[in-house]
Amino acid sequence: MIGRPGPRLDAHTKATGKAIYVDDLRVAGLLYARPVLARVPHARLRALHTERARALPGVRAVVTAAAVPGKNDIGVIQAGHPLLVADRVRYVGEVLALCVAEEPGQARAAAAAVTADLEPLPGVFGIEEALADGAPLVHEAGNVAVQFRVRKGDTTQALQRADVVVERTFRTGAQEHAYLETLGAVVQPVAGGVLIYGSLQCPYYVQKGVAGVLGTPYSAVRVVQLTTGGGFGGKEDVPSEICAMAALGAHVTGRPVKLVLDREEDILRTSKRHPMIIRYRLGAARDGRFLAAEVDIRGDCGAYATVSPVVLWRAAVHGPGPYVIPHVKVDCVGAYTNLPPSGAFRGFGAPQVAVAHEGIVDDLARALGRDPIDLRLQNALHVGAELPTGAPLEESAPLRETLEGARDRCGWAEKRTVRPRAGDPRRRGLGGACMHYGVSLGAKGWHLDASGALVQVHQDGSVTVAIGGTEIGQGAKTAMALIAAEALGCAVDQVQVVDTDTALVADSGPTVASRTTVMSGNAVLAACRTIAARLEPVRAELGAAGRPAEFRDVTHAAYARNVDLAATGWWVAPPSTFDDETGLGTAYFVYAFATHIAEVEVDTRTGEVRVLRMTCAHDIGRAINRDGVEAQVEGGVLQGVGYARYEDFRTVQGRVLTSTLTTYLVPTAADAPEVDLVLVEEPWSKGPYGAKGIGEPAIIPAAAAILNAVSDALGFPVSEIPLTPERVWRLLRAREAG
Ligand code: MOS
Repeated sequence: MIGRPGPRLDAHTKATGKAIYVDDLRVAGLLYARPVLARVPHARLRALHTERARALPGVRAVVTAAAVPGKNDIGVIQAGHPLLVADRVRYVGEVLALCVAEEPGQARAAAAAVTADLEPLPGVFGIEEALADGAPLVHEAGNVAVQFRVRKGDTTQALQRADVVVERTFRTGAQEHAYLETLGAVVQPVAGGVLIYGSLQCPYYVQKGVAGVLGTPYSAVRVVQLTTGGGFGGKEDVPSEICAMAALGAHVTGRPVKLVLDREEDILRTSKRHPMIIRYRLGAARDGRFLAAEVDIRGDCGAYATVSPVVLWRAAVHGPGPYVIPHVKVDCVGAYTNLPPSGAFRGFGAPQVAVAHEGIVDDLARALGRDPIDLRLQNALHVGAELPTGAPLEESAPLRETLEGARDRCGWAEKRTVRPRAGDPRRRGLGGACMHYGVSLGAKGWHLDASGALVQVHQDGSVTVAIGGTEIGQGAKTAMALIAAEALGCAVDQVQVVDTDTALVADSGPTVASRTTVMSGNAVLAACRTIAARLEPVRAELGAAGRPAEFRDVTHAAYARNVDLAATGWWVAPPSTFDDETGLGTAYFVYAFATHIAEVEVDTRTGEVRVLRMTCAHDIGRAINRDGVEAQVEGGVLQGVGYARYEDFRTVQGRVLTSTLTTYLVPTAADAPEVDLVLVEEPWSKGPYGAKGIGEPAIIPAAAAILNAVSDALGFPVSEIPLTPERVWRLLRAREAG
């Protein structure tokens, strides 16, 4: 069962339109909600005028911060993030009020009728601006949202001793998740509390967030995840806001309330990938050995911290790159600005730092006259080596195998020697990039790092599996069904993985950080093994009696003997540690590794970059569903192509210029490069059937490889993404002008 190619179990219902998304949901007495969004980036709220809106036809409530029965705070890690604006607006798109009406059009009309008396404040709209002396303060305590560091050895001395030192500053832009389905929730008042249906990644975050806002116990909030049209991190923390707003509407009106954002609202007010400025200084010996790395990372957190502590910590830990480096110094700062909050986005800061650590390794290769893949092979992490953050890699670290795999598959040696034809304005380039990615939450989130499952085997041999992780398009349901079928010894189509429901499985943490296959998978495995052990004597008995021991016969006989065929599974992540002073420790319990090689063509007349082919070698421990892994890599690569090439989230003085999908460009199928996947399978001892995560590794090295390939094509290093035609064209013209 494990590792064979196979179809996604949810593909048919999605392809035929039978899947129920939150906007499809109709319940009796449903009301519709519309948010009133702030249109200025920074202001004091003097008064909110809702009378006119309340008097409009069909309007049942205009909900403001004053109506919050519990805490008007939705901060997931740090408090101080109001659900509804009480006295201060910090970004365009922040919600001032919620209008609830009988019809969607009536709610929209009401939202347009609410006016706010706002006293504008000076704002800050960039990282450098935010950290400058005397900058206007986004929050009273200052514009530094979070700060992390790593200190190993003595980089000052080591850089002095180095034969070569290369240094460069890289810049990466914001990225919008652009999932197919915008955020939405339906909240129904039920006996004892509320029942929430939503498009979301993290039902337990929603449960806690809504309970806090309503001032109820967690048990009064039941969250059911419906079919979710993509998340990519964008449905990690923000759904708590959407669900809490709809829950407030339901609380005030006593009726079920639907809130589904339209695309513009979604782009304006949901989290983005953190833009970063990263300075990397790398020192090496003449023979190519890395000696010291100094990495300075500054990230734009936007108006609220949301999950910035997690993202910037991960950026700090992964900042030096997947290499053996004896002396390391990382400083990482996240700054508040009056922009939409930055949050979780596939890779959690790792795609940004990969642009820097992979760009600098190419610089060193140029400085030493070395082949860049060869230089990476020389310095790559491996089993027995020490991570930049100090801990030894005890197992499962085949980075070199991914380097060799990608290099050999793409024909690196021959392609490196191809020179442009004289007079051709199009230039080809080749670039490689590596990554390591700590699977799951790591030391900073270890207190959340357990997951559960509930498995029931029925009399007829069919199986119901419930997990605390969620299916967000990544293929979790299929992976769980395969694991259950393998462990129970039944056919995969006998297994039904139900929608995630907080009433079925205990708090399993968030569906993030490429953790679901490992965490939920191990929980499912534990539950299935418990049940398989109970079935075993029955199977033996039937076998001894010479009767066929089909799975269904065994379950039937087990029921007749009153055997309990339901079990829970619970898996706790191996412990990890991190010292805030030194930044050293076993930050994560296991890492996934990958190498991407990009082949690009740059038109020097227009600045247009085409990504022709991506060769992607991934260490995944072991593939549970081979087709699923392939799909993840194809999707990750295409999202990386968008990140590297077009996705240019533009704001001017805090106003978003790219609030639609006609102004914010994402790649389409027509832009998809050929993706060639090389799987490196070396089962990890603690993974379910050896599996590690793949969701985020799929995107992490992609943009870095593309940037390196573009630098190769142009013949000079390029340090900033996105590589829009305008940017590349300007770089070329500036180069010509000398
Ligand atoms: Mo994802 S950035 O781990 O939600």
